[in-house]
Amino acid sequence: MGDGVPQFRALNRQNAGTGHLLAWDPVKQKPAWRVQHAYLWNGGTVATAGNLVFQGTSDMRFVAYSADKGRKLWEVPVQSGIIAGPMTYMLDGVQYVTVSAGWGGAFALAGGDAALATGARPGGAVLTYALASKVPPIAAAAVDPDVARGEKLYHSYCAVCHGAGAVSGGLVPDLRHSNEEVKKNMLLITKHGLAGTGMAPFGAWVSEDEAKGIRVPRIRRRVDRHRYVVLMRSEVAVNLLLRHQPGV
Ligand code: HEC
Repeated sequence: MGDGVPQFRALNRQNAGTGHLLAWDPVKQKPAWRVQHAYLWNGGTVATAGNLVFQGTSDMRFVAYSADKGRKLWEVPVQSGIIAGPMTYMLDGVQYVTVSAGWGGAFALAGGDAALATGARPGGAVLTYALASKVPPIAAAAVDPDVARGEKLYHSYCAVCHGAGAVSGGLVPDLRHSNEEVKKNMLLITKHGLAGTGMAPFGAWVSEDEAKGIRVPRIRRRVDRHRYVVLMRSEVAVNLLLRHQPGV
């Protein structure tokens, strides 16, 4: 192993290192093109028959280049570093590109200040993109009346502190992640509050029947499904890209 201290000391913000994506021409045995990245530890790649190369970056973007020239055609901010390689697949005649976004590995762990310099955050997500105009419209799911009522009650009484859509902004407990003990006592907590804390008693305003209807985990499922749909359908930029590149 030897003395690793000097190598670690060399890893700092001023000396964070850079990376690049290099396309190699195997016939001519020389680089075809090269894209410079601001930082090192960028993602793997996938090349498509339609002349595209996709890659995620440590500065939290997912990018498509033309495979022949390395021209940037599209990019989207993804709010997480990407080190995995993307993949692509067809489903019912629609082509999708999926990447597992998330920041980790040796450099992210040990890079210290140099790793922080990228600004990459670790939050993982599986991201899927498709040509918005090709994705079949997703029928609005029938809303269970109990869920609709629970959501309304939550947003009338609880969301002002616990956060819209049951997602806490971080100041007050996120009710999706309460422990089993708390979940079992939801009714009591709603009625009597938690003495000595900012959780007020709601007994005077929320009937027992209404309190039972506040279903936090159900709200979460609905919100998540919605987000998934938004993710699939909001990528107008992909539209532009694929219009340039028919038959991807
Ligand atoms: C005025 C702001 C406010 C409102 C409105 C509010 N809460 Fe709270 N709630 C809090 C705070 C602050 C805490 C954290 C108390 C502590 O310090 O432990 C809390 C804690 C809780 C907890 C315990 C969570 C845990 O995991 O420890 C539950 C359950 C809860 N609230 C349910 C509700 C429900 C249901 C509603 C709507 C009927 C509601 N709260 C409305 C402020 C609020």
